Amino acid sequence: MILDCNNNENENLMNIAILSRNPALYSTQSLARAARVRHHYVRILDYVNCDLIMEDGNLTISYHGQVIRDIDAIIPRIGASHTNYGSAVIRQFEQKGIMTTLSSEALLKSRDKLTCSQILASAGLQIPRTIVSNNTIMYGDLLETFDKNVVIKLIHGTHGIGVVLAESKGQAESILEAFNKTKQKSMMQEFIAEAKGADIRILVVDQEIVGTMKRQAKEGEFRSNLHRGGSSKVEPISEKEKEVALKAVKHLGLKVAGVDMLRSNRGPLILEVNASPGLEGIETTTKVDIAGRIINFIEKSVNQLESV
Ligand SMILES: Nc1ncnc2c1ncn2[C@@H]1O[C@H](COP(=O)(O)OP(=O)(O)O)[C@@H](O)[C@H]1O
Ligand SMILES: [Mg+2]
Repeated sequence: MILDCNNNENENLMNIAILSRNPALYSTQSLARAARVRHHYVRILDYVNCDLIMEDGNLTISYHGQVIRDIDAIIPRIGASHTNYGSAVIRQFEQKGIMTTLSSEALLKSRDKLTCSQILASAGLQIPRTIVSNNTIMYGDLLETFDKNVVIKLIHGTHGIGVVLAESKGQAESILEAFNKTKQKSMMQEFIAEAKGADIRILVVDQEIVGTMKRQAKEGEFRSNLHRGGSSKVEPISEKEKEVALKAVKHLGLKVAGVDMLRSNRGPLILEVNASPGLEGIETTTKVDIAGRIINFIEKSVNQLESV
């Protein structure tokens, strides 16, 4: 059986698949609405339930027993716990030459904090000083190279969970040991006290900055994540911050990204770059139709592909 996509008669109208686990999520809804407003046909596919078939040099994707065909573009919204399978599904679409707002390679580069930090640092971009070690006996010596306060974070953490501020070397060592014991990879990082619990989220679509906001941690908290009770407001950013954000996104090979930055005494430091940035916080704070910008970008890219 073949998954029925709309047989769009108007050649500018597209069949777009949003790869998302949950159709009820704000970001999924917002993207679907922006595409439908432009009269595109939208399918929401739970990528974990996409079956990948490889035979006779041919790659197909099957969804609940139906072969998926005639997709013009995909918008992957891959959750942190399904990065590997999500990237395999994207790769399957890529092999068929289908436009994607997120490449499988860029997803893998940006998803874990260690790989992302390595790529950013090697591109000459400033990040907080970071050390990763599996040697429990070295923890003490390595921690000595930081100031008194050190941030310990899980390499695969999200939403601020697994980001801990240690206020002494002893505390830091205990936290690192605990993560190590439970086989969770972590990193030690310089604490940027002067950021005062705030960070900047910069939304980039197709090398253009489309929205910026400042997130402020709630009283008594240093993590500014909205999921951790942080608040947000529109925030203008400097030319230097724009330049750094665009360079980071370019080096990671991302087309749609949320860059998180700390304002430090030595300039902007990139914390992380999100490959499937949540749209709720940025759209409600800035009132910018970010989902619409993403669909516009798809329209432009698919038209360019077709005219080649
Ligand atoms: N090195 C640091 N110095 C100061 N604040 C930090 C540092 N690292 C993280 N934070 C704060 O904690 C929040 C969560 O950290 P982050 O690395 O973005 O993890 P997550 O992926 O869980 O959001 C950041 O948004 C920032 O407010
Ligand atoms: Mg973050």
